[in-house]
Amino acid sequence: MTSIDLGFSPDDAVLITGAASGIGRSVAVRAAELGLAVSLWDLNPDGLAETGELVRAASDARVHTWTADVSDDAAVQEGIGEANSALGGIRYLHNNAGPASSSAMPFDRAVEICVGSVRRMTDAWASTGPGEGAAMVATTSVAGNLVGTDNAWYSASKAAIMGYIRHLAAHRAHEFRSNGVAPGMTDTPRLAGFASSETGQRVLTRIPLGRMASPDDIAWATLFLLSPIASYINGTFLPVDGGWTVTQ
Ligand SMILES: NC(=O)c1ccc[n+]([C@@H]2O[C@H](COP(=O)([O-])OP(=O)(O)OC[C@H]3O[C@@H](n4cnc5c(N)ncnc54)[C@H](O)[C@@H]3O)[C@@H](O)[C@H]2O)c1
Repeated sequence: MTSIDLGFSPDDAVLITGAASGIGRSVAVRAAELGLAVSLWDLNPDGLAETGELVRAASDARVHTWTADVSDDAAVQEGIGEANSALGGIRYLHNNAGPASSSAMPFDRAVEICVGSVRRMTDAWASTGPGEGAAMVATTSVAGNLVGTDNAWYSASKAAIMGYIRHLAAHRAHEFRSNGVAPGMTDTPRLAGFASSETGQRVLTRIPLGRMASPDDIAWATLFLLSPIASYINGTFLPVDGGWTVTQ
């Protein structure tokens, strides 16, 4: 357990997509340490099982797991029902799953998967009536929002997710708050070896804090924005990038 108190109630639950690895795994473990029940979603059942073990080792949190592709409508609808019954309501949603920016994907399909999944998960979750104090955070990126990166579909999707968050913040605040966390370069499995590569070294020289983000750096920002102590923060875009983008 942790001595940090972000104001969460012990009976509340958070659903995290992309929970089998990286940022999502870190959010799951830290959320459980803060006393939240967790619903862990991912395509990868082995990774999900490992995250479940880490959560149980760190806390006595209630854990629900759901192996699914968040771009699959039927799987999402079924999973939301299961998660809601298993945990007795889900106050918080972390829309985090997404393909690696290095993946070669057709532009239209990639945007459909990335943006559509955030919309799909949000509507399915909201339809359960998450209740007073509900909040959603999506993992966006500095890519597309502050810098233009190599992959067109990635920059376009991350910017579109932030646009969707602004829509939600403006028009659905009576249901829940919505915010975006925008990691810079984060040390997760998809960036394995990046820091020691030539490009990685070049990027690191432009990060004032002199290192990549850890998954925990992103997890704490996410949990803060979801939490009751952030109750007046709605529609914001929070870069967590060690100051990288101010040096661009
Ligand atoms: N690592 C970075 O530098 C960085 C920077 C900016 C933004 N992000 C964003 O952070 C989020 C998490 O990335 P990460 O670095 O932790 O990566 P990661 O690869 O460690 O974890 C991503 C997880 O999402 C899952 N996933 C992918 N598509 C899915 C789908 N359609 N349905 C269900 N699960 C799916 C994967 O199986 C994986 O377990 C992503 O949205 C990514 O775009 C990462």
